[in-house]
Amino acid sequence: MPASVILGAQWGDEGKGKITDLLSEKADVVVRYQGGNNAGHTIVTGTQKFALSLIPSGVLYPTVTPVIGNGVVVDPKWFFEEMETLVTKGIDPSRVKISNNAHLIMPYHRKLDAVIERYLGNSMIGTTKRGIGPAYTDKYSRTGIRVQDLFDEKIFREKLEVVLKTKNQQLVKMYNQLPLDFNEIADEYLDYAPRLKPYVADTSLLVWEALQDGKNVLFEGGQGTLLDVDHGTYPFVTSSNPTAGGAPVGIGIGPTMIDNVIGVAKAYISRVGTGPFPTEQINEIGDRMIDIGGEYGVVTGRRRRCGWLDAVALRYAARVNGLTEIALTKLDILSHFDTIKIATAYEAEGETFTEMPRQQRVLHQCAPVYEEHEGWGDDITKVTKYEDLPQLARDYVERIEDLAGVPIRTVSVGPGRIATLTKE
Ligand code: IMP
Repeated sequence: MPASVILGAQWGDEGKGKITDLLSEKADVVVRYQGGNNAGHTIVTGTQKFALSLIPSGVLYPTVTPVIGNGVVVDPKWFFEEMETLVTKGIDPSRVKISNNAHLIMPYHRKLDAVIERYLGNSMIGTTKRGIGPAYTDKYSRTGIRVQDLFDEKIFREKLEVVLKTKNQQLVKMYNQLPLDFNEIADEYLDYAPRLKPYVADTSLLVWEALQDGKNVLFEGGQGTLLDVDHGTYPFVTSSNPTAGGAPVGIGIGPTMIDNVIGVAKAYISRVGTGPFPTEQINEIGDRMIDIGGEYGVVTGRRRRCGWLDAVALRYAARVNGLTEIALTKLDILSHFDTIKIATAYEAEGETFTEMPRQQRVLHQCAPVYEEHEGWGDDITKVTKYEDLPQLARDYVERIEDLAGVPIRTVSVGPGRIATLTKE
């Protein structure tokens, strides 16, 4: 391991939760470095299913220290709800650590997320409405409130007073909403302070010390490469950097400390929210991918958009993240298709693009160039060794490997922990 980043190589929902969970078994520390409770990780253990949004997946292992880094935006209400759910399912989440520098999601962030979307009309992003974008907006405009501010009542009240004044102006005058009450928010958040205190730590130091001691640290990205605010399909993106570069910044270590970057890619693609998606199948094929693949959002329950694997996008993900390996998930879903396609290029405006087009317009208008693969048809969910997969399935996997230029080391053929094949 020792320091590995695991991230989504597509538009999120690649099945990162399962792969992270498997790697967590060998990890000492599992760190979230960006995003917030907009992420949705589903993990199926022996008999139980867990849907985590904020707390790192590693929490399911008693030997792991789960860490929420400074790059994450934390909704304390959500944090305590998720902690309680874990307790009711028999998991002890008391080892969780939260960075004192992480920014807080406040009630006005959630409210603004919802109303801004409404006002965008046809240009809406399709956000999770969890307040993520507005919380990062405040972070970068230097009006955010951090976890550490909760422990200094005077500072907290001062900061809240200043920021709430402008937020209420915005809510009332621009968006025709009722203002939010200062005392209500202050009371709610100051009440969180003593409850949050035991979990708060200098997580940069904690992770650095773990690495110095030769421990295994896993950095868990939320969302996916193409939802990255810098490298994704802007503006149809999230407001943080899920790409590998976000990991050192979002935890406070140097980039030289990262050893591996594992990109999780689904054997086909899904996307929630709006924005370009060249290989989308708005037809019976897409409907079958959704139904067979159970493609409904963990966070919002929304029906995902589905389509064929896009090798242009995967190569791009390999490049911008410096992927050292790929974990390919949900290969079993493609057992239900007679013909399987992979997009190897895009065509638009008389040009063929084998790399991600520089002009985003192209991505909205292009036609994918597909190659076709014969489907293998057999049920592969009980296969336990990569070598035992049907030849046609292995051909498909190895073709993706060639097109991405990165080795595929893990192939997932079902939701459970055991349905995972290692490829040499
Ligand atoms: P936000 O992160 O809630 O601001 O949403 C911005 C965009 O990212 C929307 O298109 C969301 O659907 C998408 N998004 C956010 N989190 C996830 C995720 O965990 N998986 C997939 N899409 C996500």
